[in-house]
Amino acid sequence: MAFAYRDGALCAEQVSLEEIARRFGTPCFVYSRALIERAYGEFAQALAGRSALVAYSVKANSNLGLLALLARLGAGFDIVSGGELERVRAAGGDARRVLFSGVGKSEAEIEQALRAGILSLNLESEPELERVAAIAARLALRAPVAVRVNPDVDAQTHPYISTGLRENKFGVAHADAERLCREAARRPSLELVGIGCHIGSMMARPAPFGDAAARLAALAARLERAGIGLAHLDLGGGFGIRYRDEPQAPVAAFLQVALGALAGRKERLIVDPGRAIVGNAGLLLTRIEYLKPGAAKNFAVVDAAMNDLVRPALYDAWHEVRPVRAAQAGGATALYDIVGPVCESADFLARERRLAARPGDLLALMSAGAYAMAMSSNYNSRPRAAEVLVDGATAHLVRRRERADELFAPESVPTW
Ligand code: LLP
Repeated sequence: MAFAYRDGALCAEQVSLEEIARRFGTPCFVYSRALIERAYGEFAQALAGRSALVAYSVKANSNLGLLALLARLGAGFDIVSGGELERVRAAGGDARRVLFSGVGKSEAEIEQALRAGILSLNLESEPELERVAAIAARLALRAPVAVRVNPDVDAQTHPYISTGLRENKFGVAHADAERLCREAARRPSLELVGIGCHIGSMMARPAPFGDAAARLAALAARLERAGIGLAHLDLGGGFGIRYRDEPQAPVAAFLQVALGALAGRKERLIVDPGRAIVGNAGLLLTRIEYLKPGAAKNFAVVDAAMNDLVRPALYDAWHEVRPVRAAQAGGATALYDIVGPVCESADFLARERRLAARPGDLLALMSAGAYAMAMSSNYNSRPRAAEVLVDGATAHLVRRRERADELFAPESVPTW
C-alpha cells in the first residue's frame, strides 16, 4: 500500500508525512506516483488489444507534475477550457490526444483548440456547431468534431454530479443527436470524428455505463447505415472510487460491460476518467491548531479548510481522517468535528470522527487527489496549499505554497 504506517507514522510510499510536513509545511496535498500509475494501468490493461485512448479528465487535478506523468504513460486528455489546454501543453501533453468538452466554449477557446490541432471538439449544442463551423471556415481548416449525446441514462449518483439525464444541461438530446451528426457530417468546415457521452460521476455500478455504451453503439450503427463513419466512440468518465466502505465495482467491470455493448464496433474507444486515476492517489495533510471541547460538540480546528477541500461542504462528501502518528493503544479518544479557520459554518472537513487528538498533531484527509486542489479557492485570502508528488523515497514539490502578496498582485487601487 502506498499510504501505510511505517514505524508508527503514516507514509506516502517511502516518505513519512511527518517529514513532508517539516519540509513543505501544512496544509499540503501529497500524491503517490505509484498509485497514479497503478490506476492508469487498470484502464490500460482492461483496454489492451483494442484500439482505445484513456483521456485523463484534467478537471479532477490539473497539476502540471501529474499531467506530465500521465502524458508519459501515454494518456490523452479531456479538457473543458482553454486554460486546461494550456496546462496540458505546458506539461508536454500531445494536443492530438486532447478532447474538448463543455457547454460554453468561447470563440477564443475554439480558435485556440483548432490552432493547437486537438483530436476533437465535443459539440454540446446546435449553436455551438454553427460557431465551430464558422471559425473553422475563417481559419480555412476542417474542425474535428464529435457530438456529445445526452443518452438519458440515470447514472444513479449524487444529483450535483449526474449529467446524463434529460433535465441536465449537458449534451444534445438523444432524439436530436442523429440529426446533428448528419449536419456536422455534411458541413465542409467540419469533420465528424466521433460521438460521445458522459452520464455522471461516482458511478458505483457498471449497468448504467453499459446502457449508455449500447445507446452510442446503436447511434453509430444508424450513422454507418447512412454512410457516416466515425473514428471514435467516447464513453466519458465517472468511474467511482471508494471513499469509505461503500460498494464499488472495479474499473475492469465497467470496461468489460462497455466492451460487451460495443462488440462488433470498430471505432476507437475513448474513456475520460478523472477521479478513478487520481482520487485515491492523494491526501490532504493538515495540522491541528487547537482543540476546542464543547457542550454539544468537540472541534479539532486544523490549518486546512473548505477553501482547500470543498467537497464536504458542497456535497456532504466523506473523507477518511487518519492520524499521521498511529494512536497509542489505550489512549483516550473523543468524537471530533474537523473544522478549518474559514468563517463559514459549512467549513468542516469531517464530522464526528473518533480520534486521540492533541494540538500540533498531523492528520491526513484521505482520497483527496481529485476535485480537491482543483476546486480550491483563496476565500478568506488564504494562500493555496503546497502540492507534493512522492516517487519512492523522493518527495517532489510540484506546486509551492502561494504567498499572500501573490493573491492581490493582479489588483490595483484607483487613482482617486
Ligand atoms: N468527462 C466529462 C465530460 C465530465 O464532465 C467529467 C466530470 C469527467 C469526464 C470526469 O469524471 P470523473 O471520472 O472524474 O468522475 N466535483 C465533483 C465531480 C464533478 C465531475 C464533473 N465532470 C466531485 O468532487 O465529486
